[in-house]
Amino acid sequence: MLERMIYTSKAADGIGSLCLFNILSKARANNALLGITGHLIFDGTHFTQCIEGPTEAINKLWSSLVADQRHQEINIVSRAPIKMRRYGLWSMSFSSYKPLNGHNMPGFFPLNEDTVEFEIERLMKLADTN
Ligand SMILES: Cc1cc2nc3c(=O)[nH]c(=O)nc-3n(C[C@H](O)[C@H](O)[C@H](O)COP(=O)(O)O)c2cc1C
Repeated sequence: MLERMIYTSKAADGIGSLCLFNILSKARANNALLGITGHLIFDGTHFTQCIEGPTEAINKLWSSLVADQRHQEINIVSRAPIKMRRYGLWSMSFSSYKPLNGHNMPGFFPLNEDTVEFEIERLMKLADTN
């Protein structure tokens, strides 16, 4: 079964562009093998992430995510079966402020002070979409 999970978490202190690059590089390599797609937003203090994939793959990723010291206060917003992926083209696309993309990652969508709340809300709304 295909599922979508959305969660928020608080980033560990001092998360910068190198740390984000490392998270995304590993995420993309792993997700491609697991059949996971999704999107990650970092607003400077918190992550909001959408992960889509087969139940077993999501379970496997979730056990790594909850043990990861680079974030805490993990809150599940939703987990539900879906008919279609929203991020089918991306093993993990990423939105944040431009200076945090110091390594020029592909699949990067810049945010600014005016768009950040809107983008988080837009991702959260996927909780009501299957
Ligand atoms: C906010 C955040 C999002 C992450 N997203 C993913 C992800 O989508 N896929 C993934 O494999 N790892 C992701 N990770 C990293 C995992 O927590 C973990 O470090 C990684 O899966 C371990 O991979 P390994 O067992 O191959 O070393 C994320 C970490 C953080 C802090």
